[in-house]
Amino acid sequence: VSRAILFSLRHYCKKTPTKLRVSEALSGAELGENVKVQGWVRSVRPQKANLFIHVNDGSSLQPLQIIAGSELNDPLLTFGSAIEVTGILKKSPHQKQPVELEADRVRVVGKCNPVDFPFKIKERHGLEYIRQFPHLRCRTNAFSSLLRIRSEATTAIHSYFKDNGFMQIHTPIITSNDCEGAGELFQVEPSGPAHEEDEHFFSVPAFLTVSGQLHLEVMSGAFSRVYTFGPTFRAENSQSRRHLAEFYMVEAEVSFTESLEDLTKVMEDMFRSATEHVLAHCAEDVDLFHKHVTPGHRVSPEGHLPNFNILNRSSQKFAFPTYWGCDLQTEHEKYLVKHCGNIPVFVTDYPYDLKPFYARDNQDHPEHTAAAVDLLVPGVGELCGGSLREERLDLLSARLQEYLDLRRFGSLPHGGFGLGFERYLQCILGVDNIKDVIPFPRFSHSCLL
Ligand code: 4AD
Repeated sequence: VSRAILFSLRHYCKKTPTKLRVSEALSGAELGENVKVQGWVRSVRPQKANLFIHVNDGSSLQPLQIIAGSELNDPLLTFGSAIEVTGILKKSPHQKQPVELEADRVRVVGKCNPVDFPFKIKERHGLEYIRQFPHLRCRTNAFSSLLRIRSEATTAIHSYFKDNGFMQIHTPIITSNDCEGAGELFQVEPSGPAHEEDEHFFSVPAFLTVSGQLHLEVMSGAFSRVYTFGPTFRAENSQSRRHLAEFYMVEAEVSFTESLEDLTKVMEDMFRSATEHVLAHCAEDVDLFHKHVTPGHRVSPEGHLPNFNILNRSSQKFAFPTYWGCDLQTEHEKYLVKHCGNIPVFVTDYPYDLKPFYARDNQDHPEHTAAAVDLLVPGVGELCGGSLREERLDLLSARLQEYLDLRRFGSLPHGGFGLGFERYLQCILGVDNIKDVIPFPRFSHSCLL
């Protein structure tokens, strides 16, 4: 390369500012260099001959401070507007922000009328208020923190499974089975006149999946550790703070498993490893939740095995009386978690009739129980449901015809579980309503955006 070309290349590189995300700029990358940052205005404050602008692009909770000469002011530079700034990144004299950007150019890319914008500068809006604006709530501190945590927790869960030899399976969204047998299915048929003559598009009734378990069980006949992590749908007509019509479920299936302890170990390890990852990688975002959004009940990932009789011996008066064979209500779950010291708690070996057809019969128990386990956590109640699967053909035969073929060819003891991802986020962040931990909540009578 000739000297002339080298010279012009250097000149070109010097002139072209390096594009940085706010988090990269704050980390001190490119200190003293010419950089370009793009984002949304969080605040604008004129002071003497200067203009102080806080800008954020969603990559961190903290905004980047821009210092611009007042000649760069623009009436369109308002809270919420999208801007592009170039200048030199400098060390800041202030302790709170490590760096600041001395701007030589500020360009308003998209204006934002502050009168119409539903969020006001420096105001703390409640989660219920911001929920009314599904297209804009990602611009608030609380919800952008939540989305960063959600993304990091997703990565952490996939990493846990990868590091522990699980294979990811893409289980189908459209299915012809009702895995849980609870009849909470959304039926799928094409819309429009072209299909009116067909009885069913798939020749059989088809539904949005309520669980990928049966497909995972198929795979667990060839791969000893499998998991799936995807959207799940339940037509629950419930307005509760812990139910959605569309939620994400993490499901795992482990072959050659003969005891519930093998399963609870996977559940506990996954919970622990994902939570430790989130606390290490999103400390600032997690703190925001525990400081401002709710009174906060930070969860320490410890497992504990209570005895079912705790409820019967309790002096507390429950609205739903407890007796052997009753289903656990939220008040009972809360009591058990509190009784065990407000930590995650495993409840095992439920009365047989309370659990779905696939749960394994504990034939050696004096009471008729199923080898099923739920993980209950503070603030939320049930977070995971799992069981050993009934692998004995004769015991199953009365129960479900299609399930039988899985037991005819190399049947083996296995078990699995499902964890509600939104409930997991509710639990670690202390968020009261499940609608505040999913980008676009779907529940009965509501499908906004
Ligand atoms: O207990 P569930 O119904 O278990 C199953 O679906 C099993 N087939 C899973 C398996 O063994 N592979 O659901 C598992 C978890 C619950 O513990 C709860 O956390 C969450 O999924 N969940 C919901 N989360 C939000 N909204 C709903 N409507 C939910 N229903 C269940």
